[in-house]
Amino acid sequence: MTATDGNHGRAVARFARVLGHSSLIFIPDGVHPGAVQAIRDEGGEVREVGGSYDSAVAAAAKAAEAPGYLLVQDTAWPGYEEIPGWIVEGYSTLFAEVDEQLALLGGRGVDLALIPTGVGSLLQAALTYYRVEGRADTRVVSVEPEAAACVARSLAAGTPVTVETGATILAGLNCGTLSMLAWPRVRDGLDGAATVSDASVIEAAQALTDMGVLAGPCGGSGSAAARMLLTGPGSAERRAHLGVDETSTVLVVITEGAEANPLPW
Ligand SMILES: Cc1ncc(COP(=O)(O)O)c(C=O)c1O
Repeated sequence: MTATDGNHGRAVARFARVLGHSSLIFIPDGVHPGAVQAIRDEGGEVREVGGSYDSAVAAAAKAAEAPGYLLVQDTAWPGYEEIPGWIVEGYSTLFAEVDEQLALLGGRGVDLALIPTGVGSLLQAALTYYRVEGRADTRVVSVEPEAAACVARSLAAGTPVTVETGATILAGLNCGTLSMLAWPRVRDGLDGAATVSDASVIEAAQALTDMGVLAGPCGGSGSAAARMLLTGPGSAERRAHLGVDETSTVLVVITEGAEANPLPW
């Protein structure tokens, strides 16, 4: 059982099926019908609970109190930490694989990583990898929708803040509360928090599509942040802060393809 904005629920449904279990997936408002269908195609039973992502998490956690159910949620709160911790460990292999591939190409690793961020678990994996295992000087920046910028708001407040989420095409990132496990890493290790508009993401994803990379909205968010941070007025200061020059390697993590969540052209 889990709550999801799309990706995570699909993964849980897939693995439940592989392991011979049933799965019940709670969905908030705003998840694209293609993403809902992808969960059903994996054998997941979908429960559309409406409201925000946070309220879907609360509904899933409550339902999982019934005997015979296990909550497999990708965000942590006090008393619920073990499974989200495993999920973050799984995510971190992505960054190790990127470094392996860059090494094969003779590169020296990632200078700047732009991470699409919802509850911050993928971001936690990036920060854990780069601050503990990878090159310690890799700069890491979160990328959030304007409608759900809980990392940016929490950093500004110096403490985790829950934000009221709004409508955005970045449904997979539309989360109002940071994972409790992510916050210490974010507070101590993040180099910047970018917020992107839906319009900028559509433009960036279109540019990726033109290059043959079929990115969905969340998939375009890293590119949109790269354009915003590294070009235009004030970019010289931002590049200096992020240690980026023309020799740098910038990692843009594309977490969503266009099949399950096509762009609204
Ligand atoms: C499309 C997409 N991108 C990125 C993420 C990572 O976000 P989080 O910060 O919630 O780990 C998710 C999480 O489900 C997602 O669905």
